[in-house]
This record gives sequence, C-alpha cells and structure tokens, in this order.
Amino acid sequence: MKRIKIFDTTLRDGEQAPGFTMNLTEKVRLAKQLEELGVDIIEAGFAIASPGDFNAIKEISRNVGDVTVASLARTTKLDIDKAWEALQFAKKPRIHIFIATSDIHLKYKLKLTREEALKQAVEAVRYAKRFFDDIEFSAEDAVRSDVNFLIQIFTAVIAEGARTINIPDTVGYTTPDEYYALISTIKSQVPNIKDVDISVHCHNDLGFAVANSLAAINGGATQIECTINGIGERAGNAALEEIAMAIDTRKDFFNCETGIHTKQILKSSKMLQTITGVRVQPNKAIVGDNAFAHEAGIHQHGMLQDRTTYEIMTPESIGLNMSKIVLGKHSGRHAFIERVQALGFVLTKEEMEHAFHAFIELCDKKKEIFDRDIEAIIAKESVQIQE
Ligand code: KIV
Ligand code: ZN
Repeated sequence: MKRIKIFDTTLRDGEQAPGFTMNLTEKVRLAKQLEELGVDIIEAGFAIASPGDFNAIKEISRNVGDVTVASLARTTKLDIDKAWEALQFAKKPRIHIFIATSDIHLKYKLKLTREEALKQAVEAVRYAKRFFDDIEFSAEDAVRSDVNFLIQIFTAVIAEGARTINIPDTVGYTTPDEYYALISTIKSQVPNIKDVDISVHCHNDLGFAVANSLAAINGGATQIECTINGIGERAGNAALEEIAMAIDTRKDFFNCETGIHTKQILKSSKMLQTITGVRVQPNKAIVGDNAFAHEAGIHQHGMLQDRTTYEIMTPESIGLNMSKIVLGKHSGRHAFIERVQALGFVLTKEEMEHAFHAFIELCDKKKEIFDRDIEAIIAKESVQIQE
C-alpha cells in the first residue's frame, strides 16, 4: 500500500497565524508530541525569521529522536546558512527552500522575471547541497503559476538534488478536480521526478484544504503538509487530524496509509489548544467536542442497537475515552493524573495538586465527571495559580 508522508507545519505555518504564538518550551513540548503522533517531518520554524524560530529549531532538533526536522529558507545563502546552523544537531535535517513562481508574485512581490527566479532556485538548491542531503523545494503560489514554468523549475531543482518538490496552493484558490489535474500533470511531465516525493500544501481560504490534499493523492502526491487543528495563515492549512482519519477510515477509497498513530490525535489537538488558548469549534471534524456526540433521540436509539448506524469511526480510534463517568472520587490521584495527561495537559506538580483537590471537591457535588469538567478545573486552577 502506498505510504503518504505527513509533513507537519504547525510550528511554522501554524504558528505564523495571529493568536498562535508559542514560546520555546511550548514548541519543544508540542514537537515531542508530534513525534508521538507519528508525523514524518516536523517543520520547526523559519530559522532566519527570528531568534525565537532559530532557537526553537535548534532545541527541537536536540530533543526529538528519529523524526526529520525541517527549517524553511528563502533562496539566499544567508537563509540557507542560518537553517544549517539551526539544524546541525538534528538526526535527520531537512531544508525547505521556497520561491514564488506565479507571475503575480514575481511581478508585485519579488520583482523578478521567471528566468531570474529559476536561476535563484537552481543556485539555492546547489548551495544547500553542500550541507543537506534532504532538500525540499517549494514553488510558492504554484496553483496560480504557469504550468510549463512549474515543469521547468521542478526539473531544474531536481537535477540539482531536490528530493521533494512541493506544489502549494498558497492562497487556497484551487478546487479538488483542478488540483488533481495539476499534480497528475507535474508527475507525468517532469522527466526526472521518478524517485522524488511530490508534496502538497493547501490553505483553506475556500474551505477546500483537506479535500484538495486528498484529491492530490490520486494524482501522485506522496507527502501532505498540514497542521494540528488546521491552524495557519488566514483561514489556516489542511487539518492533519482530518487527513489522517479520512485516509484511515476510507482506506478502501484512497488505498494508502500514513504513519500517524491515530490514538494520539486528541491528545495532540488538546495540547495545542491548551498551549495557545484557542479552542476549536464544537462541531470541528474529528476533534470538536460534538464530533462523537449523538443528541437526537433517533440517533441515540440507532446507536444503542448498533454503533455503526451513526458512527463511521470509533472515538477510541482518536484517543477519546467515551466512558461517561471518566473518574469518580474513589479513582485516586494516579488515575486523575493519567487522565489529565491523556487530555494533553502538562502541569507542574503544584498545578496538578491544586487540580486534584478541585477534582475531589467536584466529585462531592457532581455524580458524573466528564472530560470537559476536568478541562474546566484545569483552566480555572491555572488562572488562579498565575494570579
Ligand atoms: O503557503 C505556502 O506557499 C507556504 C510555502 C512557504 C510552502 O507556506
Ligand atoms: Zn503555507
């Protein structure tokens, strides 16, 4: 079965969005969780963009194991040098070099001709090859670029040593059918593409990011770039959890697999929500509070007869414990701590102690303790501790 690589860019494209800034400790914590989740590549930042990004890439490289760690870079020597400096401790470093290829970007943003952009791309990949084996090249705004120019630039960078070529929908403009056709054309028309990964990177401006990413698989994509909870520039990027569960649930249709340990999905999502303070909407696919809730009587009746009447995937498959009473007053400290950690919270000893006492108090008042009660306790307690 075809294996799709998952390239997570929560810490780069995701963190770039307003309201999602993370500090160094939080980034390292999330990167470790991404490794647990089974992503193939963690894009840890854009080394030259800020000292914060640089340090995060360096620390993440030191703290994760076998997973590939990537830094974004423009086509300049300075960017490439900085990326190498940040990634030198990574077991598996990757540089992700990009330049825009659409005439709109070339004319208004870069003020370059196509020939100049091509030259910069080739020279950058050639220079990066001195330090990196693993080079990814992105043609920014690919979907609004001339397809013949894309073929030309991809052929040239592969000849210089790029091992992955990325075809982003930077502005979330394309549709699934169009994107499928574009990926198929690149796959069939770039002469030296055979052993190269074809990557897709979709933004969600029209709500198509996940659908476009999935459509690209049948066109020949072997890598999908995405973020936890779909965070990212403007309307965000394709949501990792939706892609992973679509591929897993509809293996019959996609005929491929990822390395994602789906039982780690909820924990990863909750961890990001706790770190950033931004909750997903209740009806968010896969990880929203209502994603596995059955409210209507007729649905509940069906579920009691057989879960498959209204359930296409089990809550357990994403790590959601559906037992109604998650814990009671006799559960004890150990079970409480385990549940808190499974929900993605990382608390200090002092915070955990406060939260546990609040939990015991709540057990006296309330028969049924749900995950959302535990989340509420932790939110309240950590505010009090900070004050
Ligand atoms: O959206 C985009 O085009 C990007 C590139 C840098 C890959 O984020
Ligand atoms: Zn992007």
